[in-house]
Amino acid sequence: MISGALALSIVGGIGGTLTFAAGSPDPTVSKLTVTFNGDSTTSKGFTWYTSHDFKGSDVQVVKKTGAKKPDFKKAVKFSGSYSLSTNSLNEYVHKAEATGLKADTEYYFRVGDQSQNKWSEVGTYTTAPKKGAFTFIDLADTQAKTEDEAILSSETISKALETVPDAEFIVHNGDLVDKGVKEEQWDWLLGHSQESLMNTTIAPSAGNHEDENYAFIDHFNLEVPANSETETGAYYSYDYSNAHFVILNSNEDSDAYANFSEEQIQWLKDDVKAAKAADAKWIIVNIHKGPYTTSNHATDSDILGANGVRNKVAPLMAELDIDFVLQGHDHIYARTKPITSDGTASETKKITETKKGQTVEYTVNPDGTIYLIPATAGPKVYYKNQKPQLGPAYYNLFEVADENHAAIYGPDPGDSKRPMRSQIQNFVGITINKDKLTAVTYEIDQNKNNAEPFIVDQFGIIKK
Ligand SMILES: [Fe+2]
Ligand SMILES: [Fe+2]
Repeated sequence: MISGALALSIVGGIGGTLTFAAGSPDPTVSKLTVTFNGDSTTSKGFTWYTSHDFKGSDVQVVKKTGAKKPDFKKAVKFSGSYSLSTNSLNEYVHKAEATGLKADTEYYFRVGDQSQNKWSEVGTYTTAPKKGAFTFIDLADTQAKTEDEAILSSETISKALETVPDAEFIVHNGDLVDKGVKEEQWDWLLGHSQESLMNTTIAPSAGNHEDENYAFIDHFNLEVPANSETETGAYYSYDYSNAHFVILNSNEDSDAYANFSEEQIQWLKDDVKAAKAADAKWIIVNIHKGPYTTSNHATDSDILGANGVRNKVAPLMAELDIDFVLQGHDHIYARTKPITSDGTASETKKITETKKGQTVEYTVNPDGTIYLIPATAGPKVYYKNQKPQLGPAYYNLFEVADENHAAIYGPDPGDSKRPMRSQIQNFVGITINKDKLTAVTYEIDQNKNNAEPFIVDQFGIIKK
C-alpha cells in the first residue's frame, strides 16, 4: 500500500496529471498519526499532511462492525483546521479531534477534505477502556539518517505490532528522527510506518533531535497544558484504564533544572497529584534524556551536574511515587532496581512466576522508582559507559546493565567509537493488569532468527 502510494506521488511530481476514481484514497495525504487528545476513552487526535489543494480538515469515523468494509455514509464527521508546515511551506498540516466516542470500541476512520470528497486510506483505532487490563509497546530512538535506515526503524514498529498484537498504543521515548527540521526525515519515518500508525495510537516524547522550530508538535495532535511552550517539544499526560502516563519534554532548560523549565516541573507535580486524587493505580513517566542509563549520556553534565536530571528530577520521581520511568537518548538497553529519593537502590521482595515456559521476576511493592531504557528501535547504538565516574556503586543500581548487544558485530566502519549500526533493534511489550505490570523485552538481530524478534528480558512489578 505504502510503496504504491509513494510511486504514484513520484509520477505526479515529474509532471504527470493524476486522476483518481471518485472515492478511492488520495495518495497525497501523508504523515497521518493518531494520538491521545483529551479523555482517552472518548476522544482521539489526528494529524496529517497534504498539498495546498486541500481546503478542509475533516475526519470521518464509524464504529467497526462485522461488515468487511466500513460504510462511511454512516460516519460521524469532525472538522479541525490546517496551517502551513513550519518545516515545509508547500505542505499543510491538518489537525482534528474526534470526540464523544464510546469507550473500549474499535472504529474505522479516514481523513481528508469532505467538500472535495478527497480522503486518505482507511485506518482503525480503539478507544481506551474505562478499566481492565491493557498492553502497550515501548520503544525509542527510531532516529534514521537515511531513508534505508528509516525503513529499518519502520520495520521495528511493524514487527513490534505483530509480536505484541494486543498492544493498544505505542509509547515512543523520543528521537523519532535524526534532524527534526528536515521534513524529508519525517516523510521517511511516518511514510514507511504509515500502515502501522494508521492502525494504532502513538504517544510520542520529544527527543533532542526534534527540539527546534515546532518540528515535534507539528506532527502530533496533543493536548498540552495551556501556555506551555511547544517550540522545543511538548509535555502532556493521559489516563489509560488504571494508569496515568506523563510525557515530559527534556528539551527545556532553567537555572533550577537542566533540561526542564520550572513551569514544567510544577506542572508535573500538580498533574501527578491530580492523577493520584483520581485514583490512578500506576504512574508512568517518560523522559527522553533520563537519569539512569548506561552509555555515553549517563555522564553528560545535564544528567550528572548539580542541577542535572539525576540530582534534581530523579529524587522527585521517588517523592512523587512514580512507579516506572521510560527513557531514551542513550541507545543501550538497561533497567534499574527501585531507586529511592536519596539515589540508592532499595532491597525489595521478589517473586517469580512461570507461564508457558517463561519465567518473570516481579519486584513486590518496590520502595522507589524503576527506570528502563529500551535501547534503540532504529540504527544507532552506543557502547556501555566505562568512565570512572560510573563505578560499581552506580552499576549496582541496575538489574540489567550489559554491554550493548550490537558490540559483538564490532565497531561501526563510519564511527569506531560506536558499535556497528543497524544490526540490533529492541522494543518492549508492557501489560498492566490490575496490580501487576509485566514487561517483555524483544530483540531483533538482523543476523539471526530471520530478523524476527525474540525475547531477551522479562520483569515485572506488583503493587499490593
Ligand atoms: Fe537518540
Ligand atoms: Fe536523544
